[in-house]
Amino acid sequence: MCGIVGYIGSKSAVDILLNGLTSLEYRGYDSAGIAVCIDNQVELYKAEGKLQNLKDIVSAQKTHIEKSSIGIGHIRWATHGAPTTANAHPHSCNCGKVAVVHNGIIENYKELREKLEKQGCTFRSQTDTETVAHLVASKYAVTKDLTEAVRLATKEIEGAYALCIIHQDVKNTIVATRRNAPLLVGIGDNEFYLASDVPAIIEHTKKAMYLDDNEIVTLTPNSLLYIDSDNNKLTPKIEILPWEPVALSKMGYKHFMLKEIHEQPDVVRNVLSGKLRAIDENVRLDEVTLNQDKLKVLNRIQIVACGTSLHAAMIGKYIIEDLCGIPVDVEPASEFIYRRTITDKNTLVIGVSQSGETADTITAVRQAKALGSHILIVTNRPDSTMAREADSLVPVNAGIEVSVAATKSYMAQVISFYLLAIYLAERASKRVETNDLNKLKHELIVLPQKIEEILAHKEGIQACAKKFANAKDFIFIARGINFATALEGALKLKEISYINATGYTAGELKHGPIAMLDESMPVLSILMNGKVYEKILSNSEEAKARNARMIALTNSTDSKLDDLFESIIRIPDIDEMISPALAIVPLQLLAYYIAEFLGKDVDQPRNLAKSVTVE
Ligand code: G6P
Repeated sequence: MCGIVGYIGSKSAVDILLNGLTSLEYRGYDSAGIAVCIDNQVELYKAEGKLQNLKDIVSAQKTHIEKSSIGIGHIRWATHGAPTTANAHPHSCNCGKVAVVHNGIIENYKELREKLEKQGCTFRSQTDTETVAHLVASKYAVTKDLTEAVRLATKEIEGAYALCIIHQDVKNTIVATRRNAPLLVGIGDNEFYLASDVPAIIEHTKKAMYLDDNEIVTLTPNSLLYIDSDNNKLTPKIEILPWEPVALSKMGYKHFMLKEIHEQPDVVRNVLSGKLRAIDENVRLDEVTLNQDKLKVLNRIQIVACGTSLHAAMIGKYIIEDLCGIPVDVEPASEFIYRRTITDKNTLVIGVSQSGETADTITAVRQAKALGSHILIVTNRPDSTMAREADSLVPVNAGIEVSVAATKSYMAQVISFYLLAIYLAERASKRVETNDLNKLKHELIVLPQKIEEILAHKEGIQACAKKFANAKDFIFIARGINFATALEGALKLKEISYINATGYTAGELKHGPIAMLDESMPVLSILMNGKVYEKILSNSEEAKARNARMIALTNSTDSKLDDLFESIIRIPDIDEMISPALAIVPLQLLAYYIAEFLGKDVDQPRNLAKSVTVE
């Protein structure tokens, strides 16, 4: 969701900006723009739609634009105002001397706009961001100091922001600041980069510093001034970024999503590595700081998350309750934050987030922290806001995920929940026999080979995708631990193919959804050997009796299924408790092949953002 790139140094800025924005495309956006400074004039270039539209505009004037060695760029995911060129960033003020790019939402923009209009400012967009451009310009008119102008402006702004600002009267300078939206500064030789995420700068430098809330940085090619909102000087904390540029290549796959699905066997191995060293050794989670005293008083777990992470959390609930006997609630973070919650110091609050930057989840865990709960974050980004504010951390180590539809990060989250549940069971509860825990550990260790088996035989899934690609709706049914798999399978399908897909607990089918069944409705039953197998089979019979087109995803070899199901996707046998980690793989592939067959933009589906940094 929105992406920022900035550059100041001696190189031409334009390609750095456009390449940086390209590597942030995965975040989801609907317009793009850059600001450069040539012959002491700030110039803006903007376009609605794909980044290519902006690239076309820029390439028509390339020899002129490439003269600038300073610039800021932005991809916008519309919140205030339609995704038009006028609303695209950068935004400017009356005199056109200021350029601002912004991620986040200025909550008091209406009041600010009214005030600024009364002072004579003319607005050219419907965005909240334009208020910042006018506000900074008006502060600069008084202070003649851009850092101070930005500092004073942020005192009046409410809401969330990452901001990069240039002013044509302040040569060779970018001022940047943030509150509740990520921003990092890449450090090169007499040059600096700014970005809302690592991929935008990693090909240039691995040295970087993350800004914290309310901090301001003023960059020139050879100086960095770093202050807090009260004008106190701060010392930069420089880190080495762990990313490899190769992560951003499709490595021969047609889409990042397909590549990321195929990375899952190695992702499982990575997550287990170092944490599950041997079957007869306790699971190690080195960054979990729950000591015996805390574990003794722990009487409840509350998990908060959004989207795909919420589905991983649902599986987490199931496993933790089963292995540890501790009650676990799971709630979308966006709901949790707007009601009276009863978390306290005896509650462990787990935030699950691929990005670690989802606004609702950040707010939820901050609220719980204020009530005294221990905060444990399960995230793919140990460098994120959530991770940095956590009491305990479970880094999921999936590597960078570029496709908007989450696949390998979901797998890594699910595996992390198995490890966390076993970790808690080994320390906080003696409910499950060591032998049973050891069996689960064994199943986790052999899981990557089983995923590889599915990936080696994709033809059946492809054929099924082709057969059902023209369906208008899709129903996924499951029970027990795989209900979350049904929801996640349906979510993958709707995210990238725009087919209306819904997951139901199979037992609920007859309480309403069955009314929708007819010969045009595919119903995919997730039928894993175990406690609820026979029950789902009966529910599938009920659906078949209403003429639905039946598809089975199963690890059963029962030949009876051939009569009931039009298509059968078979997967290797697996313990029911671990089965969600295997069953999701064919569903990701099914969604992928249907979307690809329909010619959809698989890696960047319409309207979606990878990281939702606004509430
Ligand atoms: C967006 C993404 C989803 C993701 C959700 C939560 O909606 O498109 O793929 O599951 O945000 O993101 P998080 O980074 O917190 O897991």
